[in-house]
Amino acid sequence: MKSDNGHLSVATLAAAVVVLLYVANLLQRKWTQSRFANENNCQPVRSVCKDPIFGLDQLRESIAAAKQHRFLDLLQARFHRYGNTYRSKRFATPLITTCEPQNIKTVLSLKFKDYSLGNRIASFGPLLGHGIFTADGEHWASSRAMVRPNFVKDQVANLESFEENMKGLLELIPTDGSTVDLQDLFFCYTIDSATEFLFGHSVQSLKKRLSGVQTDEKDFANAFNYAQDAIANKTRLGPLRVFARDPRADESNRVCHDLVEQFVDKALKYREHFDEEKAAVDEDKKERYLFLQGLAKQTGDRDRIRDELMNILLAGRDTTASLLSNMFFMLARSPAVWNKLREEVATLDGRAPTYEQLRNLTYLKYCLNESLRLHPVVPANSRLAVKDTVLPVGGGPDGKSPVLVPKGSIVGYSVYAMHRREDIYGPDAHEYRPERWADLRLGWEYLPFNGGPRICVGQQYALTEAGYVTVRLAQQFAKLESRDSGPWEEGLTLTLCSRNGTQVSLGH
Ligand code: HEM
Repeated sequence: MKSDNGHLSVATLAAAVVVLLYVANLLQRKWTQSRFANENNCQPVRSVCKDPIFGLDQLRESIAAAKQHRFLDLLQARFHRYGNTYRSKRFATPLITTCEPQNIKTVLSLKFKDYSLGNRIASFGPLLGHGIFTADGEHWASSRAMVRPNFVKDQVANLESFEENMKGLLELIPTDGSTVDLQDLFFCYTIDSATEFLFGHSVQSLKKRLSGVQTDEKDFANAFNYAQDAIANKTRLGPLRVFARDPRADESNRVCHDLVEQFVDKALKYREHFDEEKAAVDEDKKERYLFLQGLAKQTGDRDRIRDELMNILLAGRDTTASLLSNMFFMLARSPAVWNKLREEVATLDGRAPTYEQLRNLTYLKYCLNESLRLHPVVPANSRLAVKDTVLPVGGGPDGKSPVLVPKGSIVGYSVYAMHRREDIYGPDAHEYRPERWADLRLGWEYLPFNGGPRICVGQQYALTEAGYVTVRLAQQFAKLESRDSGPWEEGLTLTLCSRNGTQVSLGH
């Protein structure tokens, strides 16, 4: 374009230079990527979007399935339709979705440094701040180093508080054959035990239930539930989350922070008076272990302690409750499995199990494994590529060649679909059959707790807690019957549980 005096205006020239630079940069990136892809023998991966820019067709299909509580089944159907690895878009961001164990292992372990969590902090930040579950890189490594020592066997094997909470749980279960929603009670149980373990102070939600206390907005358990739902909503909205205002979520976050701050204060006082030499001498007295104090020994940073506690509470509470709920949903429909479990548990002669005894209950382990296989409580997950990288399989017509993952792409992986692959688990992969675990020898094909450097730190704690509760219920109740005539339906928020709860009746 010419200006009045016949010369190109400076602004036009500048715009042309910017466009040229942008195009040159784009071409150079494409060229580098294609060279990188050739060097690694990559082949194209099947693209499935009808709308190649935003992937709106896929998004619409996902939203419709989620509304009918069939989102995970849709994911699985897509793998049947398109193969075990395919390419699409999520809000204009390139997305590669896979249920191949080799690919998942590569993302989570072999090429761990090529990926980050993506923008998890945008949804989780208001409640969790920066901690082990939301951070990447150095910050994450230091969180993990700080948190992990608090999960050593001695801490995890402390079964007293599980037993303490069992009393409340048992009192809330009717024995006259009437229906009870065990899921509801399991969520109370795990928030009580998690707050006891983490803060040294249970929020007593089972006791509140027993005494009929009406919980209000200020109640921690309520606020924590709401704050989590808000996170799930924000995650679903993706980049549109910036337009969503939710004052109740802000208030819930504040209630949670206020409560945790009180415990952080106590921990900091403890830190001031903590004397390492004296502690070494007193080692034999074995005071009750407090996670919070374990953290306070390592840092005096108040925000840091609060954030780590919130992160672990979130990572650990619903997960274990969901495992128990899903498993009891299936146990209530499998009288033969319940009886077999009771036979195994009978070896304890009605006594509460020790940690070692729990670990030796093989059939119990099969039941837990099978529940986490069929209904993995973290059923799908994703990572963001922070550099150009490669997945080992999924490319080419047979899906066996490596695949280029350009920097900025998301790799989504579905543990739910992988756990139901018939080529791995056999034609009855959709059935709850704990016996299959007697012969299975698996690696990355089974991944309820994630793998690689970010493997779940609470795995042993969760399995111990879920095992303990199951044993105590099996000792108590000869009869466990389903009171739900419908099929198991997905209740998918941050974790996967049964949408209709776990409606059962129990009897002696
Ligand atoms: C059945 C119960 C549980 C399951 C299935 C489970 C599963 C998982 C999975 C899949 C992840 C990886 C998430 C990701 O990286 O995107 C994870 C991470 C984590 N889990 Fe668990 N979890 C369970 C219980 C617990 C418990 C009881 C605690 C603590 C008390 C806990 C603490 C954590 C923490 C802190 C992380 C973050 C680890 C890191 O990023 O380094 N989990 N868990």
